[in-house]
Amino acid sequence: METKEGNLITAVNALRTSLSEELGEGEGFVETFRAFRKSMTLYGCAIREIRTKFEVLNDELALTGSRNPIKNIYSRVKSPESIFGKMKRKGIPFTIENMEMVLNDIAGVRVVCQYIDDIYTVAAMLGGQDDIAVVSIKDYIKNPKPNGYRSFHMIVEVPVFFSEEKNIVRVEVQIRTIAMDFWATLEHGLKYKHQIANEKEIVEELKYCSEKAYDLDVRMQSLKDQIYGKNHSLEKQ
Ligand code: GTP
Ligand code: MG
Repeated sequence: METKEGNLITAVNALRTSLSEELGEGEGFVETFRAFRKSMTLYGCAIREIRTKFEVLNDELALTGSRNPIKNIYSRVKSPESIFGKMKRKGIPFTIENMEMVLNDIAGVRVVCQYIDDIYTVAAMLGGQDDIAVVSIKDYIKNPKPNGYRSFHMIVEVPVFFSEEKNIVRVEVQIRTIAMDFWATLEHGLKYKHQIANEKEIVEELKYCSEKAYDLDVRMQSLKDQIYGKNHSLEKQ
């Protein structure tokens, strides 16, 4: 059983029970399972492509502007459980085609920048690359959510080359400042805690903190502009 095929069969058997409801029973199961694995591999590769693009931009901006606008890059492929759960919530029958068409956030990359203008700089630089197609943009910085959520979201498509085919893969990119990320990480916990005492007060306090965090972002941006000049990160030396 210690062959590639043997390992695949073991994996199939282990997952069959829990996934059979989503992937269907019988003959088609192994085929769907293979297609699912291929799809997940593609999403993982697409994440690496996008991460590399941001890393390259960061290196270049450090060279020309003497600082790194990107502080951190996080990424993840959505778990099968979350994928099935989201398809179910949307009421769409599970097929690989439906999954790839309907879910934009199976591959997710989060980029954390120092300053607000860095967000727009790196977003424009990514969007402008000729192998990237921008599918949609949501600017929750200019239009924050009612709860105070701020972040710049892009859905992009990137080509992933396999030996004999080119696959176009969708990736959700979230770009935000350190302060926005600090806030969103804490707020995210609310969704998973079902019984919270003083929920109303907490929601209000979070909203207040979101405004404070944004105020800090704006002031830090202004200080940076005064100290280094505007568009510092883009200045050629
Ligand atoms: P889903 O929320 O993934 O179904 O997508 P959507 O079509 O509503 O897109 P949207 O751009 O609003 O959100 C995409 C992702 O952004 C979410 O999955 C979260 O990771 C993040 N996000 C959006 N809104 C919030 C929010 O209010 N709080 C936090 N912490 N994160 C959020
Ligand atoms: Mg999501």
